[in-house]
Amino acid sequence: MTRPQRKLSRTLTGKEEVGPVTRVALVTGASRGIGFATAEALSRAGLDLVVTSTMKGGTAEIARRVRDNGRKVLEVVWEASSRSSADALVAAATAGLGRVDVLVNNAGIVVRRPVEKLADDDFDLVLKVNLSGPFYLARRLIPAMVRRGYGRIINVSAISATIGSPKAIGYAASKAGLEALTRSLAEELRGTGVFVAAVSPGTVDTDMVKGSGFDPAMTPDEVAGVIRYLAVQAPDAMRGARVEVFG
Ligand SMILES: NC(=O)c1ccc[n+]([C@@H]2O[C@H](COP(=O)([O-])OP(=O)(O)OC[C@H]3O[C@@H](n4cnc5c(N)ncnc54)[C@H](OP(=O)(O)O)[C@@H]3O)[C@@H](O)[C@H]2O)c1
Repeated sequence: MTRPQRKLSRTLTGKEEVGPVTRVALVTGASRGIGFATAEALSRAGLDLVVTSTMKGGTAEIARRVRDNGRKVLEVVWEASSRSSADALVAAATAGLGRVDVLVNNAGIVVRRPVEKLADDDFDLVLKVNLSGPFYLARRLIPAMVRRGYGRIINVSAISATIGSPKAIGYAASKAGLEALTRSLAEELRGTGVFVAAVSPGTVDTDMVKGSGFDPAMTPDEVAGVIRYLAVQAPDAMRGARVEVFG
């Protein structure tokens, strides 16, 4: 006879509340920057991790850190703009670690160019990676989260969504879309146990801001701390929240 599993708490505040089940988090774009710091923070919080990069071997270092923290890790090569890559990522995560309880849609790109030099293809690509990619993963993972009565989706937006971003209008538009998606999903999933929220950082010291002329105000670890809070601890009352982080 198998022992019945203890009912899981909907608000995950630490390992002791998880009972016999270890939560699994999928962090996209975990090869560097904010995603790397988030994957490490979540592994320290006791979660197993699925980590992605666009390149084979891109997640080798974060995978080592996760293992050093005593957690399981699965490395997957994933391209945000591709639907079939989303199918493959969800299939690999489910086969490898059983399920995904926490999705951190972190991977993103920026194309910095004045509007007259911003090609249609540049604009379309930024929208695909920053907005369609998170939707592709959320749509594929939500049905199982709803069935289990638990899930957390944290979308990494940017302050550009609110204040605009001259010479990066595709980026600002993609993040504004991501915030609207966050609020809409949170409302649609009310009462299902699936929590959706966004974090909107100012300038963070990563490859993305190198050469941009902006002075970073924060480290990736500082932003990761906020994502970790939303991913494992924030109360249900924060569903749909957009948390600004300025450093
Ligand atoms: N840095 C900031 O100041 C700042 C401020 C506000 C918001 N954000 C947001 O925070 C998130 C992380 O940014 P970051 O600064 O940490 O960036 P980063 O250091 O440039 O890292 C970007 C990550 O996204 C992955 N990625 C890039 N293009 C991808 C694609 N087409 N498909 C799948 N993955 C892709 C990269 O993988 P590879 O290593 O394989 O290329 C990498 O892991 C982004 O959504 C960004 O918009 C950043």
